[in-house]
Formats: sequence, structure tokens, C-alpha cells
Amino acid sequence: MSKVTVVGAGAVGATVADNIARKELVKDLVLLDIKEGLSEGKSLDMTQTASLLGFDTIVTGSTNDYSKTANSDVVVITSGIPRKPGMTREELIGINAGIVKGVTENILKYSPNTIFVIISNPMDTMTYLALNTAGVPKNRVIGMGGILDSARFKCYLSSALGCSPNDLQATVVGGHGDTTMIPLTRLATFNGTPVSNLLDANTLDKISADTMVGGATLTAMLGTSAWYAPGAAGATLVESIIRDEKKLFPCCVYLDGEYGQNDICLGVPVVVGKNGWEKIIDFKLNDEEMSKFNKSADAVRNMNSVLATL
Ligand code: 2OP
Repeated sequence: MSKVTVVGAGAVGATVADNIARKELVKDLVLLDIKEGLSEGKSLDMTQTASLLGFDTIVTGSTNDYSKTANSDVVVITSGIPRKPGMTREELIGINAGIVKGVTENILKYSPNTIFVIISNPMDTMTYLALNTAGVPKNRVIGMGGILDSARFKCYLSSALGCSPNDLQATVVGGHGDTTMIPLTRLATFNGTPVSNLLDANTLDKISADTMVGGATLTAMLGTSAWYAPGAAGATLVESIIRDEKKLFPCCVYLDGEYGQNDICLGVPVVVGKNGWEKIIDFKLNDEEMSKFNKSADAVRNMNSVLATL
């Protein structure tokens, strides 16, 4: 694999691209945006870090010229407006649905075999929309939300435990929304030891609540949505595809009976490799977790039904 395109040169898209270049995942990296000059400027700026950071990836900007994205192995879609303080991700659907649909169609004209990574919000619904628009096998459309939410979960756990986030295994499933995500506290471990052996229930409840509003907390501080962790999470997902790492991440994928759900894209643990998401892993959720998962699915399905009205 040798080429990745990132669509949307805003803060998240540019940070995904920057991380991909730094990791030197591919030879050719294209950054595309509709705003004249923006992607060219950010690409040139990134290119000028090559000798400082020691990578040989060629970063090319494109103002809406999709021919430059031709034959991309992976395309990351970050296009659309980000949320402002006080907004939910769901409130973005009216504008972002049209944008994501158009981008998906344009990409497919030049890269019919690509794997799509969707970051635009509301992410679960945008992933469902991209899959239905593209009409490609389900394994080739992956929504990025759970990796980011799990990174935030690990961040809060590590500060409570006073440990390295790299010694934690912690997963967030369900939707990528303030009320739809489900931090799986019961299954979280510190190098194999359940965190519930080390932290009291109140602390764990607070960590779970902080994780769920992790994005909103940053949006309130920054005046727009976050980009460092979303960008790093997007690039980590791309890395597992490009390097065929078969890493296990919670990602938003099409469910066809798994976790008791059908005809919906929702966050579950999946193995990610060169074919996109390759298999869904059953974490054997208990009744309480399943009930939260079903509620999350109901909320995402309601949001998906809005697509038909646009
Ligand atoms: C976030 O949670 C952008 O949805 C993304 O920060």
C-alpha cells in the first residue's frame, strides 16, 4: 500500500495527515479541501518538516481536484463543520450529511477499491451514510470514534491510578456521542488487573462520565472541537490498515446480527488490517452493558432515520 488521502484540511484532517507523514506510513499523501489554497499551504508546511522529522512521505495539497486522489489505498474523511461549544455532534447532521455523501461519491470515481475511514460527525450516522453511498463491501468502511474515546478513557484512568496510559487496556463501545458511548469499566485492566480492584466505584463512575463528555469538555475549552487526539486516533487506525497490523480497536462498523443489532453502524471491537475491519470480536457484554448498547443503537438509529428527511 502506498497512498492515503485525507479529505478536509481543517484541524483534525491536517493533524491526521501530519501523524501519517511523521510515521512515514506511505510514499504519497494527499490532503484535499474545498477552500482555495488551504490544503496546498498545509501540505507545503508539513513537507518543510520532512528534513527535521526524518520522513520521506510526499504530501500534496489539492483544492477539490479529486483526480489527485486517484488510486488511494485508504481515504480518511474529516470534512464538514466541527461542533461549537454547547452543540452536540448530532446537531451537525444537516450540513455534514450532504458534504460526506458528495465526498464519498467523488472519491469512489478515482479510488474504487479504497478503504474509507470516517471521522466526520455525527460519526456513526456518517459511517452508515458513507457505506450506503459507496455500496462497497462493509469491511471497507470504518468509523473512527471508539479509538479516540478509549484513549480519553485511558487518559482519565491513568491520572486516577498514577500510571502510564500504555499499561492500561480500556475500551469504549457503542455510539460516538455524549450519551451513546459506553466505557467498559468492568473489562478495563491495569496490565491484566481489573481497575475495579484498584479504584473505588465513585471514582470509576466519574471517569466513565468524564470520558463520555470528553469531546464536549475540550470543545468548551477550545471554542471548537479537539484535533490532537482525534488526529492521532485517525492515523493509528490508518497505520493498522497500511501495515496490516491486525490490531484490535473499537470502531464503528456495519452490524449484521453481531451484538444483537442489524442495519446499523456502531462501535464494537474489531480487528483492523489490510482488508479494512476484518472481524468483530465478541466481548460477551453482561446484561447491563447490553442494555446500554441497545439504547445506544436506538439513539443512533433515530439519527440515521433523519438522513431520509434531508
Ligand atoms: C471528538 O470527540 C472530533 O468527535 C471528535 O473530539
